[in-house]
Amino acid sequence: MDFTEHTALDAVLASFADTPDARLRQILGAVTRHLHALVHELRPTTAEWESAIAFLTAVGHMCDDTRQEFVLLSDVLGVSMLVETMNGDARGTEGTVLGPFHMSESPRRELGDRIDEVGTGVPCVVTGTVTDPDGEAIPGAVVDVWQCDENGFYDVQRPDTQPPGNGRGLFHADDRGAFWFRGVVPTYYPIPTDGPVGRLLGASRRHPYRPAHVHVIASAPGFTTVTTHMFVADSPYLDSDAVFAVKHSLVRDFAESADAAEAARYGVPVPFRRAHFPIRLARAGRPR
Ligand code: BEZ
Ligand code: FE
Repeated sequence: MDFTEHTALDAVLASFADTPDARLRQILGAVTRHLHALVHELRPTTAEWESAIAFLTAVGHMCDDTRQEFVLLSDVLGVSMLVETMNGDARGTEGTVLGPFHMSESPRRELGDRIDEVGTGVPCVVTGTVTDPDGEAIPGAVVDVWQCDENGFYDVQRPDTQPPGNGRGLFHADDRGAFWFRGVVPTYYPIPTDGPVGRLLGASRRHPYRPAHVHVIASAPGFTTVTTHMFVADSPYLDSDAVFAVKHSLVRDFAESADAAEAARYGVPVPFRRAHFPIRLARAGRPR
């Protein structure tokens, strides 16, 4: 049968029909059907199709060990958050995107330590708890945090002004499942715009900003790990995060405190800001 606009889809679907792996066969079928539907809807010219391929090629060329432009593309298209949301466990704290700035080896720190090693931002104390969905403490839960500084940069982006590990810490919750540390209030910042994803945002008049946040991965044996953020309640861009990652349940007050006794207890000057983040971990392997 001749390849025509009307036979194209069936011809390609038939070519994949003997794929032995059932999931791969399903994926290839869905990709083919949706891609063909897109082409039918848009009816691109040959030049437009070539520029689509040039765009994806540029995305690939932008990727290396420290820069993942495909993840960024998935982020700004809302796909990263869609997958995250579909795979979340409703019994635990809501999840959000991992983002590109997580280091597998956050410096191990003791409860109460400073994650800020520079000292130029607004001091902040973060406290939290890790519990199961019934509120039972999870002693020893691992809480990995990382954040940008008061200028919106992660340590890896500014090795000239921030020591490696600045803004990062790996903590173990105490016997009551509690954790606490000192840092600075993070600020909003733009996602990287010097590549094709930045050009896409510019062409569509979208801003590149993310609201101020602290990244958190919380884990414990027997529980489902959650990758999430705590968002700063008074930050700009909470309603228009460039990567769609804001969930209401994750927005926390970073209220100013002038409580001298509490400041002395935590070893911070007054005034300081204070935030609390209760984390719930769902038990692994139970039906959702
Ligand atoms: C971040 O929060 O670190 C981030 C997330 C997605 C894209 C770029 C940055
Ligand atoms: Fe971030």
